[in-house]
Amino acid sequence: MGKDEPARARHVAIIMDGNGRWAKKRHLPRALGHQRGVEAVRRVVRGARELGLEALTLYAFSTENWRRPEEEVSDLMSLMKRFIVSDLDEFAEAGVRLKIIGDYRAFKSDVVELVEKAMARTAGNTGTTLAVALNYGSQDEIARAAAKAAAKGPVTPETISAELDTADLPPLDLLIRTSGEVRLSNFLLWQAAYAEMLFTDVLWPDFTAGHLKDALETFVSRERRYGGR
Ligand code: IPE
Ligand code: IPE
Ligand code: MG
Repeated sequence: MGKDEPARARHVAIIMDGNGRWAKKRHLPRALGHQRGVEAVRRVVRGARELGLEALTLYAFSTENWRRPEEEVSDLMSLMKRFIVSDLDEFAEAGVRLKIIGDYRAFKSDVVELVEKAMARTAGNTGTTLAVALNYGSQDEIARAAAKAAAKGPVTPETISAELDTADLPPLDLLIRTSGEVRLSNFLLWQAAYAEMLFTDVLWPDFTAGHLKDALETFVSRERRYGGR
């Protein structure tokens, strides 16, 4: 990379929002919106690999999403399981390392077992890290990290950062939210301190690898100042 060349994004995170509205617009069941959302995940993970991203973090289920009707929560769980079963071989072969952030152990034991097997199988991979946020809430993550830091010694931004679920990922460069909502919904509050943000009206099931590529181009054109001048 030349001296004046702007830095490329290493770590991108996405709040995948708008599955319900995508389905509603088409008079289809919400579950189908989520199903199409999984197809978007597949496209975007492939895109992230091809674009050479070091890490892609996807918000799949928040600590607040338990408030949804039981049927929708269980639809989301079965989609998650099916996705891991159907795509794990491809990840393993493509060098993708699967990581989970959030308190995923609160899920049913079949989901926990599947997720842990998938993480173990891809743990040695050195390509793109796909971090999936499951039962993730940033405030919960920060509280857990602060407690661990305090048990070990002084509590500083550095010692908290080192205990976050994302501790082994590069710093967050770009945070994208689809579907036109402009809020963080308890996602990566700490990590977003100096991330660039991009809000798009595209609904998640319509999001493509091309949209990701465009977002990375926008990112490169932004000037990050980190409080300096
Ligand atoms: C995002 O789509 C998927 C999850 C939160 C799991 P939504 O289901 O939130 O879709 P909208 O926001 O209702 O359109
Ligand atoms: C954020 O979307 C959570 C995920 C994408 C998993 P929500 O649809 O749950 O967020 P709110 O409720 O609109 O803030
Ligand atoms: Mg939503």
